[in-house]
Formats: sequence, C-alpha cells, structure tokens
Amino acid sequence: MEKPEQDFVVEYPEDFDAPHRDYAELRHKCPVAWTNSLGGFWALSRYDDVKRAASDSSTFITSVQNVVPKVAFTGRRPPLHLDPPEHTPYRRALTPLLSKERADSFEGVTREIVRELLAPMVEAGGGDICERFGSYFPVRVFGEWMRMPEELLDVLHERGRAFVLAVHQNNPEGMKETSLLLYEMARAIIANRRDSPQDPAIDPTSALLAARFEGEPLPDELIVGTVRQILLVGIVAPMVMTGNMCVHLCRDQELQAQLRGDPSMLPDAIEEFLRLYSPYRGFARTANRDVEMNGRTIPEGEPIALLYCSANRDESVFPEPDKFIMNRPNIRDHLAFGRGPHNCPGIHFGRMELRVVMEELLAATPGGFEQAGELTMSRWPEIGALSVPLRFLD
Ligand code: HEM
Repeated sequence: MEKPEQDFVVEYPEDFDAPHRDYAELRHKCPVAWTNSLGGFWALSRYDDVKRAASDSSTFITSVQNVVPKVAFTGRRPPLHLDPPEHTPYRRALTPLLSKERADSFEGVTREIVRELLAPMVEAGGGDICERFGSYFPVRVFGEWMRMPEELLDVLHERGRAFVLAVHQNNPEGMKETSLLLYEMARAIIANRRDSPQDPAIDPTSALLAARFEGEPLPDELIVGTVRQILLVGIVAPMVMTGNMCVHLCRDQELQAQLRGDPSMLPDAIEEFLRLYSPYRGFARTANRDVEMNGRTIPEGEPIALLYCSANRDESVFPEPDKFIMNRPNIRDHLAFGRGPHNCPGIHFGRMELRVVMEELLAATPGGFEQAGELTMSRWPEIGALSVPLRFLD
C-alpha cells in the first residue's frame, strides 16, 4: 500500500520541551501520524489509542518490532519480543522476583549505593547528575538484584552505554556489535548458574532455568535472550527519569524546597513526574491485520509507536497536562509503565529507586541545587535529558 504523505519528522537535536509541544499538535491535528524518519513508522499520540494498542496484544504484537528505531538484530529477547501466550512463562518466572515486598527489601542497599555515588558530587559541589550518578546507580541496584559479581558491573555500565548510544545514533552495526557483547555476558551468567545453581526464589537466572512450560524447561536460546533483555531494560529509564526530575526541580525551586522539607510527599510527586516525563517515549507494536484508528487505516505489518509520553499529556484525561499538579485524582491511570501484557514488571523497583534517589539528593543538598550548564537530550526511544549539570548551593 502507498504511504501517506509524511505527517511529522523526527529532528535532532531536541530541547527539553519541544517534543511535548510537537506531540500536543499531533494529538489535536493528526493523532494517527506517519513519518518516514527512523525507518518509517506510525505514531499514536492520544491516550485512548495508546492504551487500546498496548492492551490488545492479539492485534498489536511485539514479536516483529518492539521499539522505534528497530534495535533487535541479534535474536529474540523475551519477554518483550514475544507475544502471549509464548511470552507468559518468562514473565511468570521473573514477576515474583520483582514484587513490591522484594523491592522494599532492596531499599537499604539502594540507599547505600545512592549515598556512596552522591558523596563525590556533594564534595565537588555538583556535577552532571546523569553521567556521574544516574548512569551508575541503576546498574549497581540491578547488579544486587541479579546477584552479579561486582567486577562485571563496570563492564555492564560500559556496554550498556555503548548500546544506548548506538540506538540513539540509529546505527545498526553498532547495535549489533554491542548487543553481541551483552549476549556474551548473559551466556557467562547462565553458565555460572548452571555450574553453581542458586535459589530460584531470589536469583532471576536460576528462576528462568527452573521455569517449566507444559512440563518442559524453557529453550536455552530464549533463556539467554531473556537474561540479555533484563541486562538493559531496567537501567536506562531510572537514569533518564533522574535527569528529568532534576531539570523540573531546578525550574521550580519552590517545589524543590517543599519536597526537601517534607519527603513524605515524594511518592505522589514521583508519580506526577512519571506522568510528565515518562522516560520511554514509546514502545512499538505491529498490527497483524489492517486496523482503523481515528479514520485512518494502519496497514498490517507496519511499525506503530505507542507514544506513552504523549498519552500522559492528553488533556482529555489529564487537564492542564503540562503542569505539575500533586495528587491528580486519576494519576494512577498514567502509562509511564505501559499497559497490558507487557506492562513493566519492574514498577515497584522503579518507584522505590526514584524515591530513594530523590530523598537522598534533597537531603544531601540542604541549600538547594540549580542547573549549571546546557542539557544534552536523549533521542528515540527515550525522551528527556541525558546530561544535566547541577550546582549544589550553600
Ligand atoms: C522508572 C523506571 C521504569 C520505567 C518507567 C519502565 C517502563 C517500562 C515500560 C513502559 C514497559 C512496557 C514496554 C512495552 O509496552 O512494550 C516496560 C517493560 C519492562 N520493564 Fe520496565 N521500566 C522501569 C524500570 C524497570 C526495572 C527496574 C526493571 C527490572 C528489571 C524493568 C523491567 C522490565 C521488563 C522485564 C519489561 C518487559 C515486560 C514484558 O515484555 O512483559 N523495568 N518498562
């Protein structure tokens, strides 16, 4: 089928607010939009459409392409790259290890990691909160959860960043190369657990090895794919969110002081930050038949980005959508953690990590903090700041 004329283009560099203005325009004028950028894809910008596509996994599948730009050249990585019912055993194996109780039990170690990583910034009177702090703490927390030896964490940090950079540059060769290095790590972790099994109730790799589907173990190559997937999936969002929350708090010193004075407000504030600054611009689906949406037909087989970041600013659901408003009555309806069968199983860890980060950062900066230089912005598939220089005030 012939493509429609292009409705929008992806242009870099972006600034912190511009993409949100662009998506507001799409929501009003062209809620089902086509672009030739990044290999060509449809973009859904309205809340109801995004929620419908995320929830209906029998029509909108992830097994063809799960993000824009396409990143998976090196194999299938459950649970994201599989559709139900194939996807379910991998989810089932991981979910108990990511429960709220488990996330709470990691709060102490998370706090220690956060304090240790913030200390040199406090000593220096500031620095880039993303580069110096945000890119490290989720790797360290993940390392504890994954029970990885400490020496592997620097390697994971380096390879993770290289992969993200290749994705942002839409560089398939770079993605392949770095992804294969991450696969190597996944294989090494699995080989170690096969030699020295651990308790599947606390070790994610052992839980995948112990999982059964219709009485059979999960296929080796898909266990490798799952470990490879989780090596990165929970690391990028907390970093981008940390940067985004800091930008907001630099702009709104009153809110910064209020949250510092009363940290019990943080869980609600973080939920509103997640709505405003959803770090994943949008994951992708592919329709397995022609689908009608808002008077347009999306042909079978073409990639569709579900713009979570735009859905969360849809004014028909969240009035005054660009404004930070504490305790919106429907705040729990936001889509920052997705919806449907692929919704984020790491939600409790994500929330806990962001809360501890903000508690510790605000406590460590009694005089406040402000922006001390230019922001560097992320590219698809994330959205927000990747570099936020801060000055800690006396
Ligand atoms: C602020 C933090 C986080 C945010 C905003 C976030 C967001 C998301 C979103 C939007 C999805 C849905 C993908 C889709 O619709 O296709 C997702 C999936 C996923 N997330 Fe998170 N995430 C966060 C932290 C974590 C953490 C800490 C983990 C821990 C390992 C994690 C593990 C996963 C996994 C395994 C999936 C795939 C689920 C599936 O396909 O069934 N996430 N995340």
